Amino acid sequence: MCGIFGYIGTENAVKTCIEGLKQLAYRGYDSSGIAGIRKGQLVSIKAEGKIVNLEKKIQLKDLELAPIIGHTRWATHGIASENNAHPHIDSKETLAVVHNGIIDNFDSLRTFLKQKNISFRSETDTEVISQLIAYHYEGNLTVALNKTLSLLKGSFAIAIIHKDFPNQIIAASRESPLAIGYNHTKKERLISSDPNAFLGRNLNVFYLRNDEIAVINRQKIEVLDAHLSPIIKKTEKFNSTLTFPTKEGYEHFMLKEIFEQPNTIQKAMLGHYSENFGTAIFDNLNFSNQELMATRHILIIACGTSWHAGSIGASMLEDMARISTQAEIASELRFKNPIISDNTLVIAISQSGETADTIAAVREAKAKGAKILGIVNAQNTTLTRESDSCLFLKAGPEISVCSTKAFTSQITVLALFALYMARLRHMSKEDGKAFLDELKKIPDVVTEVLQRHEQIQSLAKKYSTFHDFFFLGRRYMHTTSLEAALKLKEISYLNANGYPAGEIKHGPIALISPKLPVIAFCANHQTYDKILGNLMEVKSRGAPILAFAPYGAHEVQEIADDVFWLPPTIDELATYPSSIAAQLLAYYIAKEKGTEIDQPRNLAKSVTVQ
Ligand code: AGP
Ligand code: GLU
Repeated sequence: MCGIFGYIGTENAVKTCIEGLKQLAYRGYDSSGIAGIRKGQLVSIKAEGKIVNLEKKIQLKDLELAPIIGHTRWATHGIASENNAHPHIDSKETLAVVHNGIIDNFDSLRTFLKQKNISFRSETDTEVISQLIAYHYEGNLTVALNKTLSLLKGSFAIAIIHKDFPNQIIAASRESPLAIGYNHTKKERLISSDPNAFLGRNLNVFYLRNDEIAVINRQKIEVLDAHLSPIIKKTEKFNSTLTFPTKEGYEHFMLKEIFEQPNTIQKAMLGHYSENFGTAIFDNLNFSNQELMATRHILIIACGTSWHAGSIGASMLEDMARISTQAEIASELRFKNPIISDNTLVIAISQSGETADTIAAVREAKAKGAKILGIVNAQNTTLTRESDSCLFLKAGPEISVCSTKAFTSQITVLALFALYMARLRHMSKEDGKAFLDELKKIPDVVTEVLQRHEQIQSLAKKYSTFHDFFFLGRRYMHTTSLEAALKLKEISYLNANGYPAGEIKHGPIALISPKLPVIAFCANHQTYDKILGNLMEVKSRGAPILAFAPYGAHEVQEIADDVFWLPPTIDELATYPSSIAAQLLAYYIAKEKGTEIDQPRNLAKSVTVQ
């Protein structure tokens, strides 16, 4: 899930490339590196860890490199070391390659090349690309690259420089995104995994796909298809804004984003409901009411936190609109041969809009004729381009790898969409208005939880001494418990299992002991009595219990060791106060543990490999 950047132009290429890589660090921060050509020779600098380490190394040398390619890595093959950092150079030191994706058949290609006495320097799958191009090279780089592409299985976006072509970058892509931007007047050409990294520039942009190759030099850009025939790509004007989000006084982006939620939830709602008609309004929805009324089945695809939001959305759609809805994990769905009929609507949810598994599942659904409704935060992304219609969260950039505000905004958009679908069917105006009244209270509900953050901080101090946790809930609180457990795992590296509370007696209860606390989510009224029973079961076996329960749930107080009281709301919306309390719990436990909160180990903000 790496980020690729490349530059040919009149600016200081090293500086431009580093700025571009910083914008792409959300795609991985295991290592970074650059390569360019100077005096006819390849020059490459790489560093393990974050881009700041690369910057330190570069400062020691006064570098002028043109053209330049750069990379920020999330390791898939080979440890996160300097040796495995990109760019990867062939053994004759003629060319350098940066790569986003996975070469599935790298092992057999490596064996083939080793038989030709080619030796490898890294453990990566990527190195076979540089060695193969060099192996096929007989003076024509495009032909060598094309021969190489035909041997590769898997997904990739790659950029290459070769010392015989000191004014040129050559790029290719299959499945992984690669944007190419140019401004002929300014004589600049840029390539990037994400066009949003073309900071503050006015460019014409196009995207490579399906083994297309772009040969980019100062004079022109030529694009070739997989048969090496020239093609004309459709370009669009791209005007990226120069924004550098700051922590605004908070210690971490995650904390800032948690506290932003009353605002971001409000923004997701703004202009999207009609009080008079008790329904939602989506001006930009490209589906007619007839199409939506004909929908008999909804398939939601997403990963991680977005899948949790999707699961809550699925329950709302079933409960409120009575449409059969499944929320599927994208990486699983695409191998299931999903059943999609004329009246299936597919909703793809992604904060980044770049998650490779989600995009792959969307493409599979499209191949079966599905129409795609995207729910996305980041603009100008692969998912926004692939969707037939898109609803935006407008939550602003989410920098913390651990998603918080995007989750609650996703639920808000889904709640409004469920209301819209329900009103198109049987829901009365009065019921629609009643639901909207509850939804409009949510920013205040959330504010109330945030105001009591110190109480959660002291609970976090107490519970941070444990190593393993169960997070339990039922119905809407089940998915809430999954999301809450994911937050704790991601940033504190503690073992946290989210589970449906009614299911633990079928096995997991064997794990319960005084050393394993249960974090109980009790805000689902429909299943309140049932979760009380489940809590008694774990209490009888010695588990310490921390409960998140609505004011007035005194029975919980009798059972739990600690209770954090939540402001009341309806079951469909109970995830908001519970999740925000759980986000704060995870944050403060991670602070107690001293882990790196905004960029936890082994993770990336956007997972661009499958
Ligand atoms: C959330 O805290 C995670 N970092 C992760 O599960 C994330 O939600 C998932 O990778 C999906 O990302 P997306 O919303 O950008 O597609
Ligand atoms: N597979 C390559 C590596 O491990 C690229 C990884 C990626 O794009 O995430 O270096």
